[in-house]
Amino acid sequence: MAGISKSFVPGNPVLDDIHLSVEVGEVHAILGENGAGKSTLMNVLIGLVRPDRGHLALHGVVVDPDTYSPARAAELGVAMVHQHSTLIPAMTVEENFFYGATQRAWRFHPSSARRRLRALSERFGLEVPAGARVDDLSVGQRQRAEILRALDRGARILILDEPTAALTPGEAEQLFPALRRLRDAGRSLVFISHKLDEVEAVADRVTVLRRGRVVDTLSAQAVEAQQLGRLMLGRDLPALARAPAPERPEGPRLELRGLSAPGLREASRLRDLNLTVHGGEIVGIAGIDGNGQRELEEVLAGVRARTSGEIRVEGRALEPGVRRLRDAGVGHLSGERERAGLIPGLRLYENLILKGTYDDESVFPRGWFRPGPARAAARRRIADYGIVPPDPDADMAVFSGGNAQKLAVAREFEREPRVLVAVNPTRGLDVGSARFVHERFLALRSRGGAVLLISTELDEVLSLADRVVALVRGRLREVPAGADRAAVGAILLGASP
Ligand SMILES: Nc1ncnc2c1ncn2[C@@H]1O[C@H](COP(=O)(O)OP(=O)(O)OP(=O)(O)O)[C@@H](O)[C@H]1O
Ligand SMILES: [Mg+2]
Repeated sequence: MAGISKSFVPGNPVLDDIHLSVEVGEVHAILGENGAGKSTLMNVLIGLVRPDRGHLALHGVVVDPDTYSPARAAELGVAMVHQHSTLIPAMTVEENFFYGATQRAWRFHPSSARRRLRALSERFGLEVPAGARVDDLSVGQRQRAEILRALDRGARILILDEPTAALTPGEAEQLFPALRRLRDAGRSLVFISHKLDEVEAVADRVTVLRRGRVVDTLSAQAVEAQQLGRLMLGRDLPALARAPAPERPEGPRLELRGLSAPGLREASRLRDLNLTVHGGEIVGIAGIDGNGQRELEEVLAGVRARTSGEIRVEGRALEPGVRRLRDAGVGHLSGERERAGLIPGLRLYENLILKGTYDDESVFPRGWFRPGPARAAARRRIADYGIVPPDPDADMAVFSGGNAQKLAVAREFEREPRVLVAVNPTRGLDVGSARFVHERFLALRSRGGAVLLISTELDEVLSLADRVVALVRGRLREVPAGADRAAVGAILLGASP
């Protein structure tokens, strides 16, 4: 890619004279803050976004910008593995191989699809149950299926946009050897991640973007995570300042007593959970996705019925219901902002008023909506959280993943929750923004707020929480105080503490 520039708004380039070369047989990481332009650059590469200037050459041949499109990109061997699965959930992995391959549909044969799938899967060490419905697969299996499908269609350049954001550490570790094998087989991989240690572990070279410009391209072996962070942010990130927990935490703020609830599957059914979170305390729930995290989140948000047990807030048992929980001061930062958080197609300020400000007299006097104050409130949040673009009227759909997450966080803190239930709150955030959110959590804790942090990022739980418990197969298990990463990991995998 040479001299690529793109502005969505005149005079405000998202990509500014970008040069990027990805070699044959290379894992090339792209790093940059939220909104730096990574996904946009990849959308240019895949033919979804047409640049204003610059050109693109694939395997030495300059492509014609007038005819370049995702279909053309696929013909030329460029494929993108999106963070959100594009497989058809109600079909098996094999059947999914059929879809989108219309030009040879008449030749499609299930047994040949199965054969090709098996051959690719063995060759690159990407395991998937070929005959299983996509619905029943884990996030990691879906992703592997998606990579295999791209390879089956002849992908030589494979773009992975934050492939590890939703993976468990174990699944991420499985992905890396496969990426190396693909590289050694002469494929080119573009790897986007906010996790600097992963970049160090898997990339050959790294290109760092800052505000739409290339800061540098370096050899990944020769740099350290800290240096990458500095290049990305343009400054050093000091260590997280963490005040000691209050001596005697305030009284119980959130209590779960004998809480049981049905699960999406047997392993994630909640079984007799007992837990207390005090004011001025962050309790972390460590765990691997699929062990009841989502069920617990949904019960605490009021959208999943429980079979037995109690939820108490400040000593009062609450009847189930979204509104009751919110009125009791329980904030909920969803782990899946795309599914249960933000609405593309609505404007930024409209998204900000979705949860709760409807009873705010300045915005809804006597039930009439006044957009002026809502916009002004949105402007304050934008400034506070450094949300880009800083436009209250912008459609939610144009915000980068990290900026959308910042908005979701801002909305939850708006109400100064008595109890905040937060699920994977920094997923998709760059290191600077993640730090910012962590500082907000700690500040809420110093103001006496209670935080229940449900996170699959073990490092996040260990660095933030005053007390850690593990959620394993729908049950809570004690984690001894001071347990390190390895010890918690063993508990999560089911070994006895
Ligand atoms: N269709 C669009 N219209 C207007 N602005 C857009 C559009 N698409 C992207 N942008 C803007 O371009 C900038 C770069 O966004 P991009 O999604 O490329 O960032 P990113 O580096 O992938 O960030 P993240 O790490 O948060 O995913 C953002 O400020 C975004 O709001
Ligand atoms: Mg992005």
